[in-house]
Amino acid sequence: MKDYLPYGRQMIGEEEARRVRDVLESDWLTQGPKLIEFESRLNELCGSQHAVAVSHGTMALYLACRAADLGPGDRFLTSPITFVATANAGLLCGAEPVFVDIDPDTFNMDMAEAARVIRQDKRIKVILPIHLGGRMCEMEELAAVCAVSGVTIIEDACHAIGGCWRDSSEVWHKVGDGACSAMTCFSFHPVKNLTTGEGGAIVTNDDKLAARLRTLRNHGITRDPDQMKKNPEPWHYEMHELSLNGRMTDFQAAIGLVQIDKLPRLKKRRRELVQRYDEAFADLSGVTPQARPADDDTCWHLMIIRTRGRTGLYEHLLEKGIRSQVHYIPVHTQPYYKEHFGTRRGDYPVAEKYYSQALSLPLYPGLSNENQDRVIAAVREFHQAATDD
Ligand SMILES: Cc1ncc(COP(=O)(O)O)c(C=O)c1O
Repeated sequence: MKDYLPYGRQMIGEEEARRVRDVLESDWLTQGPKLIEFESRLNELCGSQHAVAVSHGTMALYLACRAADLGPGDRFLTSPITFVATANAGLLCGAEPVFVDIDPDTFNMDMAEAARVIRQDKRIKVILPIHLGGRMCEMEELAAVCAVSGVTIIEDACHAIGGCWRDSSEVWHKVGDGACSAMTCFSFHPVKNLTTGEGGAIVTNDDKLAARLRTLRNHGITRDPDQMKKNPEPWHYEMHELSLNGRMTDFQAAIGLVQIDKLPRLKKRRRELVQRYDEAFADLSGVTPQARPADDDTCWHLMIIRTRGRTGLYEHLLEKGIRSQVHYIPVHTQPYYKEHFGTRRGDYPVAEKYYSQALSLPLYPGLSNENQDRVIAAVREFHQAATDD
């Protein structure tokens, strides 16, 4: 089989393997001491007060929507350019999706448009902005509008852990510090900035939301004597609401602990690679990378470009043994959404145009300069040939 260069790849080493083995030989396979340690390290990393580690990013988004009391009769706002999991989280709560078109340069939700929709539509209860590829949405104006309208902001930061951003008062924030939202959700899927195999987390500064998320993570069950309606026996527990098993195992948490130690190095390498790509494409008129913030301290998860001849470039790269990817097929064009919510191609023209041009090039900390140069050369060759035609 041909050895392809992947578009994303985890960086797991001996230390993760050793720590997993330690857990496997211990008394706790799930929700034990490593999980507690991992949650505490996540708080340090994000500048948050509570971290609730869960089974997947999807679970994090779903439980966050539940904790925000999103339900039937409510609406939620999100971007069409995201993985279906973001919008599905709201749907699974019984709420109705409303999409907002994207900004053509950042590829994130158009925040001014989102603010306008929130002011007009009183049924919107939750907004889920996505920091695509790690690139932070402009959160401040939105946060002000949501505070007035009583809309809960849940950040889909599945791509963005480890990043920092600077606000309009020049104060730096860690992604997840809750400066502009009630809850922030992460995914620890293998291609993400930090992995636990599968996994996710919600971080928040709100004590009540954190307690609710912990209950929702465990079938809606509580063992807290203060919360129970009666408390007759030591083994007593009570289920107060319907939920699922969203727990993370202790061996996943053990992997996560090593990954948090490594994250500064992983971030540095991701940023170096993005800078090399940007420099290499600066003179290429057919290629426009995602816009970078003025003061950039993003932990870049994806190297997204808009390119002329996207499908041709995808195929050209494949012929050269290089895999690329498209993030994402607009959610409103998925058959399920069309059938159930009447969305149609043409509804969000900026997102659809972006989709016709978008390509994510290989980006992962283990990508060598030499292999990156192969990708750059292949992209240049494709565009050169197109110009010569
Ligand atoms: C933007 C976004 N949201 C949500 C998810 C869901 O995360 P997970 O795969 O961990 O369930 C992903 C991961 O693929 C994602 O990229």
